[in-house]
Amino acid sequence: MSHTSEGPSGPDLTAGISEDSVPNGGSLLGHVGDHPVLVVRQGSELFAIGAKCTHYKGPLNEGLVVGKTVRCPWHHACFDLETGRADPPALDPVARWRIERQNGRVVVREKLPEVQPPNRPYTDPGPMVIVGGGAAGFAAALTLKAEGYRGRITMVSADRDAPYDRPNLSKDYLAGNAPEDWMPLREDQFFPEASIDLILGTTATKVDTRHRRVELSDGRSEGYGALLLAMGAAPVRLRVPGAELPHVHYLRSFDDARAIIAKLSPSARVAVVGASFIGLEVAAALRAREATVHVIAPVARPMENVFGAEVADFVRALHESHGVVFHLERQVASIQPGRLTLSDGATIDADLVIVGIGVTPITALAEETGIVVDRGIHVNEYLETTVPGVFAAGDIARWPDPHTGERIRVEHWVVAERQGQVAARNMLGRGQRFDMVPFFWSQHYDVTINYVGHAEHWDAIERDGRLEDHNCSVMYRKGGRLVAAATIGRDRESLLIERSIAAS
Ligand SMILES: Cc1cc2nc3c(=O)[nH]c(=O)nc-3n(C[C@H](O)[C@H](O)[C@H](O)COP(=O)(O)OP(=O)(O)OC[C@H]3O[C@@H](n4cnc5c(N)ncnc54)[C@H](O)[C@@H]3O)c2cc1C
Ligand code: FES
Repeated sequence: MSHTSEGPSGPDLTAGISEDSVPNGGSLLGHVGDHPVLVVRQGSELFAIGAKCTHYKGPLNEGLVVGKTVRCPWHHACFDLETGRADPPALDPVARWRIERQNGRVVVREKLPEVQPPNRPYTDPGPMVIVGGGAAGFAAALTLKAEGYRGRITMVSADRDAPYDRPNLSKDYLAGNAPEDWMPLREDQFFPEASIDLILGTTATKVDTRHRRVELSDGRSEGYGALLLAMGAAPVRLRVPGAELPHVHYLRSFDDARAIIAKLSPSARVAVVGASFIGLEVAAALRAREATVHVIAPVARPMENVFGAEVADFVRALHESHGVVFHLERQVASIQPGRLTLSDGATIDADLVIVGIGVTPITALAEETGIVVDRGIHVNEYLETTVPGVFAAGDIARWPDPHTGERIRVEHWVVAERQGQVAARNMLGRGQRFDMVPFFWSQHYDVTINYVGHAEHWDAIERDGRLEDHNCSVMYRKGGRLVAAATIGRDRESLLIERSIAAS
């Protein structure tokens, strides 16, 4: 992931440009002083907004204009052209500038003030309680504020840290390329200033739906009018002799990442158990720190179940070219200090073992509450559970996906954030359906794989371009219909595919 910081390019927009130079449904990149600014045309309307995405500064001029929004090419954040407002993973609006049109020319004038939350009426159910301070919980809290909710918001999180950039834990942060201050999604003082009561290091232990109260591990209890369950997922534990030794780690939280980093040295010998997203991103990050990395997994090809054989072979070769050693079609039989033994009797020297063998949604609280749970918390299209007034979002929620016609549960950052947004609006009685086309990205060295749609199974795969050139798209079809696509180096195409799946 790169945080770019190039100087301004394109014309000086304060000097004016020809209207015709901005294509309809497209944009033109210029600048106002040092600010890169994008002029966007949609029909007869023109808009001027900041050209850098507020997530990781992705180039919005390489994105896609859809209606009165522009979509970021890197991780599909969406910005409203009229208000500058962001949909995740960006959490902050882009700046807007006033435009003047004179005789077929467009001149960009002064910056406009930030749009304030609307004063739209909402149904006030009473205090809002959010269980979970991750992607979904935090996006929900922000959305309640953005929707103009003025009541009490309590967010309870088992995490010791205020909401942070979890995907970065296995990428730049673990690689040592992201300083600590990149990680929080908001500064600590934001929460009291926004009147969000953030209770950290505390778990919700019981929900009393009759009296609408949530009991907390510190003995307190919080009354709610509407409740959001957003507890995410927990790593599956490895069950072999030695799995409880202190050098065996998992990676879910900021604390987990700090504990791993504290034990790393350039000569560290690391065994990664599991060859899916977390395992392989960890492998890439640790190679950047020059650790020796062995990956052990029972599968024949890494991530073949998600991407198919060809992409899986490419991913394996990519990691091998960076020095990762794979031990596939093998299991860990036991772990000893400084070593682990595989199912075929082979041994690997390892000072550190990092286990990434999947996660399970944290649903016990919901089950004990009598909420229907079926491989995730069962929610309707409004993300409400089977108990009225109780919503669920993120890794724990299984929802009716309109694009596949199936109930699905995914573990994607942007989906969790967008679900948090939609759940929050519905807690205010807005009645918004969740219909996002799922999206995730995964980063391995200088290769980012973007994936839109959802395909647990497919009956045809079509590739365009060459994986080795890091310039290709792979389409997954079921019954002739395009259900998902993975792209490398084709970010705009990923946005176009997302749009076409949304419309189909
Ligand atoms: C290392 C790592 C890298 C990832 N990289 C990517 C990526 O590149 N792209 C992508 O799309 N996705 C990625 N993901 C997945 C993504 O982070 C998750 O899908 C997303 O965080 C889910 O959001 P959530 O709000 O459901 O859960 P979380 O973000 O996990 O938040 C859940 C919160 O609930 C808290 N909690 C749990 N139980 C309780 C309780 N009883 N009471 C109170 N609080 C509780 C937890 O402490 C946590 O704060 C990654 C995940 C990890 C771990
Ligand atoms: S940089 Fe724009 S969505 Fe991430």
